[in-house]
Amino acid sequence: MFKFLSGLFSRDIGIDLGSANTVVYVKGRGVTIDEPSVLAIRKVGNKGKKDIIAFGNPAKKMIGKTPQGIDTVRPLLHGVIADFDMTEKMVGYYMSSANQGRRMMAHPRVAICVPACVTEVEKRAVVDATLGAGAREAFVVEEPLAAALGTGLPINEPRGNMVVDIGGGTSEVAVLSLGGVVISNSLRSAGDDIDNAIVSMMRQNYTLSIGESTAEEVKIAIGSVVPLDSELEMEVKGRDLMDGLPKVVMVTSGEVRDAIEPIICRIEDMLRYAIEQTPPELVKDIVDQGLVLTGGSSQLRGLSARFSDVINVPVHMAESPLYSVALGLGKLLETVDRGDKVAVTVDHAAV
Ligand SMILES: Nc1ncnc2c1ncn2[C@@H]1O[C@H](COP(=O)(O)OP(=O)(O)OP(=O)(O)O)[C@@H](O)[C@H]1O
Ligand SMILES: [Mg+2]
Repeated sequence: MFKFLSGLFSRDIGIDLGSANTVVYVKGRGVTIDEPSVLAIRKVGNKGKKDIIAFGNPAKKMIGKTPQGIDTVRPLLHGVIADFDMTEKMVGYYMSSANQGRRMMAHPRVAICVPACVTEVEKRAVVDATLGAGAREAFVVEEPLAAALGTGLPINEPRGNMVVDIGGGTSEVAVLSLGGVVISNSLRSAGDDIDNAIVSMMRQNYTLSIGESTAEEVKIAIGSVVPLDSELEMEVKGRDLMDGLPKVVMVTSGEVRDAIEPIICRIEDMLRYAIEQTPPELVKDIVDQGLVLTGGSSQLRGLSARFSDVINVPVHMAESPLYSVALGLGKLLETVDRGDKVAVTVDHAAV
């Protein structure tokens, strides 16, 4: 397969199509786009026609603030395409932005990442969306593999490399050796569920209604998964569910920690199970070298210390947790061009 791939990626781009963020790597230029996976649409007429009015950051700013007739859409939920048309539009938009209007790249070859747990149907949907958006060819690469490459793990060696990616919609763990995935597990629960847990906690503890964006701000500002030396607190504004009026409350990091605990426990169970499934020789390597933690939600305060305690191996943070997958796709594209042998599994489709 890789002989076939060699030399093909001439003007290629790698797309990490995440539930929360889309990151695009353009070969030879690096990461050029990092935008939320969000669109804003306006309904036109009553035949269901929709105009897209914003992509990425401007669209994310509109979440929860739209007037009648305008909606914000997150086409990917839990790492899976929930709205096919919108995914296609979004991929098309980022592909042409990456191309900066140059016609040469109007139909690039695209390496695109999907979570390891997706079904064949979902994988096919990603490929179709990419081809539909104008790609000449689309290659699907497993996300843990790209993440491991992007964090600099020597995945081609006969050695157990463990990577844990906690994103917006999915949490994934994989053990790789000799360029392939030995075991992988994933959970369709990550940063988004943490935000939802904060929304529920605010409702229960304070009868305060807040939106997802506010919950995300609270998580980033005071979220933690271990007790902190000095606990944090934050003023949160919303609407009181009792009288419908605006209300401001002080929330502590302890309350947020309790609210998100069940999700963190589920992720820990997934890690334990992954270690149980890993062949002992590879476990030995992981104990020696540790695992690499990546993905936006890996930045939660105390997560690396906690994982290290729970599964008893050293945990290293990736240098750029939001870019690991895109950088890995980039490495794959560059390596392939040099004709190196890289044993990876990719699915390929062309128009
Ligand atoms: N400093 C931070 N602390 C905690 N969480 C954070 C921080 N910064 C970003 N996040 C969270 O990281 C998540 C996005 O991470 P990432 O971009 O890796 O996800 P994704 O790749 O789009 O999703 P997936 O891989 O699950 O489809 C969001 O839920 C966001 O709230
Ligand atoms: Mg991701």
